[in-house]
Amino acid sequence: MRNRFVAGNWKMNLSDSESKSLAEKIASHSYTENTQVVLCTPFLYLKEVLEATSGNTKVAVGAQNCHEKEAGAYTGEVSAAQLASAGIPYVILGHSERRTYYKEDNALLKSKTDEALAQGLHVIFCCGEVLEEREANKQAQVVETQLQEALGHLSTDQMSKVVIAYEPVWAIGTGKTASAAQAQDMHEMIRNWVANQFGAEHAEQQIILYGGSCKPGNAAELFAQKDVDGGLIGGASLKAEDFIQIIEA
Ligand code: PGA
Repeated sequence: MRNRFVAGNWKMNLSDSESKSLAEKIASHSYTENTQVVLCTPFLYLKEVLEATSGNTKVAVGAQNCHEKEAGAYTGEVSAAQLASAGIPYVILGHSERRTYYKEDNALLKSKTDEALAQGLHVIFCCGEVLEEREANKQAQVVETQLQEALGHLSTDQMSKVVIAYEPVWAIGTGKTASAAQAQDMHEMIRNWVANQFGAEHAEQQIILYGGSCKPGNAAELFAQKDVDGGLIGGASLKAEDFIQIIEA
């Protein structure tokens, strides 16, 4: 039985005091034994959110990106080593906003993943197709290439520290959710890819999240799918009541 996993991606939202108060509300709730919650906050708030959630063992903290190098003259960047030294256990890599606005490609994401894993972080690795690719029925091929090029070289041991998040880009922040059947189809394809690469036993343990306009109203149906183990939540993770309802789903 795989654990249930829900990560909130706050993106570039909330003030310092709003972040603290949201983290406190989420941490004051109790979650079932097999649940892992991760709050992925702007770099600036990681330490205070870590502090605010330290009393709740089910709630962890993650960054939304890291640099591919260990240290050096990279103005404005944050390394995986720095995150690890600050006690931050998770990092999101490959989010479609990073791929689109900052031109992160599969080769760069491979380097970032290697560096994050080398520093002992857990990676929440995002993949997903854009609307034109979905319309051309190329979603499986696109996602498989993203996974193969960035994660295909990992050892099974390394892969056990990677959570995959399937996020159809056309569903992110648009209010358009993939149907439960569309999500299940892609998750099954992803689990088959994992089985081919890392073995059937590993594939059974692999956590695969759905992301893209996931809300209290649709979370239960999405999460009820056989291969959907939880969600990566953007907009709805900014309101404690909504996010907690999604976790409970
Ligand atoms: P959304 O974002 O829930 O606001 O669609 C999901 C994400 O980008 O991770």
